[in-house]
Amino acid sequence: MFKITNGISDARLSLEAAFLDPDYWNEIDTMADFNEAEKMFGAKRLEPAARDCGTLHPRLGPKVHTPSSSARDPMTPVPRMIEIDYEKVNRYWEEATPSILGPYMMDDFGFPASAGDFRFRAESRIVRRLTRDVKRDGAVLDLGSGIGVWAEGFARRFSLVTAVERSRNLFESLQRRCSPYPNLRPIHGDVLTFEPDARYDLVFLGGLLMYLNERDLIALLRKLVRCIEPGGMILCRESTVRGNAVALRGDYQVVYRSVSDYRRIFGQCGLTIRHVERNEPYVLIEMGSELVEKWRKTVPARFQVLRAIGHLTYFGLRLGYPWITRIPKALGIAFPRLENHFFVLRADAS
Ligand SMILES: C[S@@+](CC[C@H](N)C(=O)[O-])C[C@H]1O[C@@H](n2cnc3c(N)ncnc32)[C@H](O)[C@@H]1O
Repeated sequence: MFKITNGISDARLSLEAAFLDPDYWNEIDTMADFNEAEKMFGAKRLEPAARDCGTLHPRLGPKVHTPSSSARDPMTPVPRMIEIDYEKVNRYWEEATPSILGPYMMDDFGFPASAGDFRFRAESRIVRRLTRDVKRDGAVLDLGSGIGVWAEGFARRFSLVTAVERSRNLFESLQRRCSPYPNLRPIHGDVLTFEPDARYDLVFLGGLLMYLNERDLIALLRKLVRCIEPGGMILCRESTVRGNAVALRGDYQVVYRSVSDYRRIFGQCGLTIRHVERNEPYVLIEMGSELVEKWRKTVPARFQVLRAIGHLTYFGLRLGYPWITRIPKALGIAFPRLENHFFVLRADAS
């Protein structure tokens, strides 16, 4: 049975996103479901969405399932290239709260601030493990560095760190955070126009790729491949989905790609994936976010007590960490909808 789960203006997985994802089309089993959806969105809105995901609904023609990107043949309808409105991305991050929760998209769920600290510390341990072979006297480039929590961590471990951030608001916070570190150079600018003036042992891309159109992403990665030291790595930490790419097109513009989409893109840029790992701390917090989201959708606003529910959800999940994130997977349940992965990449030549 098809379920309406979210709102269009929502900064997270919106209804529009649901209709761009063929997995959701597959949930629309009956004409009654389709009519219900049509009533809510209007046929005009549904039709392009259906075409975008390469899936045709009974009303529009035969239903065709879009194969995964790696299996596509040239004759198969493929989703139209998703275009992100960079101005909207920019506006969103200009207005973002410069806190540990803000850049992690965690500030609307009633979670305690310690949830952001937990996630950062747990992810830091993973990053430390994945980068343990990077030379201590090496140079690091952190692109889309937000308020600079990662850049600061790198400055403590490595000789030289360059951090690039486009949002003026977050950049000012990054500058303040970085002032005690003479080895950290903050740059206010767009990663797409940034010209690296050095070679790097580690390039960190933490939650940046999802804000870039595919051709810009490819151009950026190709630029980065040329400035990685022999034996150096690119480390991405990126939000992912299981099926086809999902785009949010409201005030919060983003493309969530699948691991296989990233595999294809990295391959096109001369990068080899040495290691992929699901980001379990992220998944834990995302489980909490999606549960709180469901609560918000079902309970009238005046009874929501969001702070209490957010705290309860977070501490409940924390008690079950790390095994709790593995339960949906073991049961074959696609929850949470949004995941996150670390990708360790090396230039093909190195
Ligand atoms: C999800 S936040 C991640 C921040 C940080 N890397 C972290 O992991 O905490 C994404 C960041 O990328 C920045 N960003 C997005 N597009 C950018 C671009 N084209 N150039 C520079 N920064 C960009 C945003 O302003 C935001 O600070």
